[in-house]
Amino acid sequence: MELERLLRSQGFGSRPECRALICSGQVSVGGIQCEDPYAQFDPEGFVFSIDGELWSYRKFAYLVLNKPAGFECSQKPRHHPSVYSLLPRPLLTRGVQAVGRLDEDTTGLLLLSDDGQFIHTYTSPKKKIAKVYDVSVKHPVDTLQLEALLSGVQLNDEPASVAATACEIRSQRVLRMTVTAGKYHLVKRMIAAAGNRVEALNRVAIGAFELPLSLAPGQWMWLQAADLERLSLPG
Ligand code: URA
Repeated sequence: MELERLLRSQGFGSRPECRALICSGQVSVGGIQCEDPYAQFDPEGFVFSIDGELWSYRKFAYLVLNKPAGFECSQKPRHHPSVYSLLPRPLLTRGVQAVGRLDEDTTGLLLLSDDGQFIHTYTSPKKKIAKVYDVSVKHPVDTLQLEALLSGVQLNDEPASVAATACEIRSQRVLRMTVTAGKYHLVKRMIAAAGNRVEALNRVAIGAFELPLSLAPGQWMWLQAADLERLSLPG
């Protein structure tokens, strides 16, 4: 593929913009400046740098962000900055989107991608993907609340009750809870229906993929093949 087209596919702008980057000597391949926009490279395993920053060709972008509190999962945030402001421009240009949404005050694991099929799969309620949350609550948790969450609580405006697929007491005021539905404010509404109140919510896992401990709030990283494997659906 031509260098100009390669850069375009990775979010570095329109073809004329990519050509300008190349012709102005900002692009290197294998440590050597390449000023030919039509130079041919195999996209598979292609590594290049722009102004000294290394990039690898990726057909699709898959990333994980440790979402901090105070950010909205929206392209057009209303009251707080957007999670998209935490990503570099090429990722936004290539159309990376959050896989589902977390509330502004919820922290933790947020997947992002530009692979429409991946986004669809991980947001589809039919797939029943497990999402694991650490839930800090206002009042000490008792076994009645735990049983209610596991057997199902009735939410306003929902025809059927909703149950956690797993729930354990981690400390007096902290639960680890797994849900598979993807309803608006689901965990907060379930905890309220069980007679308690969420004070802080942190997503720690999706499927078998856990938020890497090394990823500080506000930081993002590429998902590796092994991470995608952990995310893959059974069957
Ligand atoms: N449930 C909630 O109530 N809020 C979130 O952000 C995610 C799940």
